[in-house]
This record gives sequence, C-alpha cells and structure tokens, in this order.
Amino acid sequence: MSHTATQTSTAHGWQLEEDSATAYERFLVPLLFDTSARDLVDRLQVRSGDRVLDVACGTGAVARHAAERADEVVAVDLNPGMLAAAKEAVPHPSIRWQEASADALPLSDGSVDIVCCQQGLQFFGDRSAALAEMHRVTAPDGRLGLSVCRPLEHQPGYQPLVDGLRRHVGQAAAEGMASPFGFGDRDEVVALVRAAGFRDVEVRIVIWPLRASSPEAFLRGETASSPLGGVIADLDDEVIDALIADISEGLAPHTDDAGISFPIETLVVTAGR
Ligand SMILES: C[S@@+](CC[C@H](N)C(=O)[O-])C[C@H]1O[C@@H](n2cnc3c(N)ncnc32)[C@H](O)[C@@H]1O
Repeated sequence: MSHTATQTSTAHGWQLEEDSATAYERFLVPLLFDTSARDLVDRLQVRSGDRVLDVACGTGAVARHAAERADEVVAVDLNPGMLAAAKEAVPHPSIRWQEASADALPLSDGSVDIVCCQQGLQFFGDRSAALAEMHRVTAPDGRLGLSVCRPLEHQPGYQPLVDGLRRHVGQAAAEGMASPFGFGDRDEVVALVRAAGFRDVEVRIVIWPLRASSPEAFLRGETASSPLGGVIADLDDEVIDALIADISEGLAPHTDDAGISFPIETLVVTAGR
C-alpha cells in the first residue's frame, strides 16, 4: 500500500504498468474504502463549519466525503505517491494535502473538530505517538473516528490469499498481505485510544461485503495495490498458475456465478476529546 514504483512484466500476461497508488485508487477504493469512508463520515456527523483532519489519507477516500460536508479538510499521509494519486483523483479545492507522519502532525493544538483515520493505525510505527498527536490537535469538544481491520481469522477471503502467497511466494509476501490485519484486537485498540486521552470510546464491528470477478482478479488487484505488485509480476507462469489454483480452492465456498464474494470485518472506533 505504500509502493509507488512503476513495474512492467510480461509474466502470465500481467502488465503492471501503473504504480501501486494508482492501482489502490482504481481497485481498493471502489472495492471497500469508498463505502467505508462514507460510513465513517456519517458516524462522525461531519457537517458544515467543521474542520476535519484525515490522517493516513491514502488517495483521499475519507477526505473526499468529508469535503462534501465540511468547510475545511486537511489530509496527511507519509507517502508522496499516495498524495499524488489523491490530488489527481480528488481535485477538491477545500482539501489541503500534506505530506507528514501521523506521529508528527503539522497542525497546532486543538485546531480541528474531527479527526478521521481509516485503515491507518495498524501501519504506524508508533501507534501511541500517533494517537497522542490526534488527541493534541483535536479541539476540546472534538471527535475521533478510526477504523482497522479485525485479525486474519475473521477474514475468510484474505486467509486463502495469505496462505497461497506463503506457499508459493514466501513468508515475506504472506506477511505483507497479512499486515492490514495485524492490529485489530478490540481490547488492544480501545486501550490505546483511551491511553491517548480520548473518552467515551465506542467500538462497532462493521462487516462489509467484498466482490471480485474471479480469484485471479482479486489476487491481481490486491497485489498491484501493494508492495507485492512487482514480486508477483516477476513470478514464472507455472508459479502464478499454482498460486491462482490454490487461492481458488480456498475461495471455493465464496464463489458464485459472478465471481467471488465474502465479508471483511472491521472495527470502527469513535471517541470524544
Ligand atoms: C490502507 S491505506 C489507508 C488509506 C486511506 N485512509 C483509505 O482509507 O483509503 C494506509 C495508509 O497509511 C499511510 N501511512 C502509513 N504509515 C503512516 C504514518 N506513519 N503516517 C502517515 N501515514 C501513514 C500509508 O502511506 C497509506 O496511505
């Protein structure tokens, strides 16, 4: 999710000619993040007059929905490639895009009413510092809304993908694909949010349906949107065939006449300052 180099390969006819940020915007945002972003903005009741901060904004899935309702939106991300794709996908005049780390937010104390962080916390090197920063920049009556994926055992579509990558590509590839599901234990997340100073912390398990036209399309979209794009494109055809066969077998219970469909489980956490 943070890789931005452009890769080209003829392996298996896969031509990875777009960078991972562009693939993320084209595949993952419509697959899930646009819908979940709208839901997060709804839960936080973002409205006219609000100053909103989107932390780890990626290509701006949350920022674009917030900007439809609020007057000011600041969107920060560590990855310049994601910000470049965001500016192209969301040329919204009221969004200020800024390159920054979540643990050193370029904003003054109490300067925003609402802080959003969709699917970012699990990737931060120092989650406590990031949450402390979110608390610092939130106004006294402000609100926080964040989401993370629940652990892999709650993800029936991603478990076969991770297992297949481990078997056919290697442990590092499997760990890369599993990383979005690495920090989704409810008690741990709540403890961290409370420790940062937030109060009235509430958690909802929110389950979204995902759909792809085939296991191959799922593998291709997920890996192209991640640092694994180049790794997969460089594999021999026989390895890709075996990988797809393996993933297809794992996804058989989730296969229908239109492709594959399965739930993805997330935690949505809201809190007050
Ligand atoms: C799964 S994406 C989520 C993006 C976006 N929030 C969305 O919903 O589509 C995770 C994002 O976290 C960003 N990220 C990772 N570590 C970060 C950090 N320390 N500070 C800011 N952004 C970070 C990545 O660059 C990536 O854009």
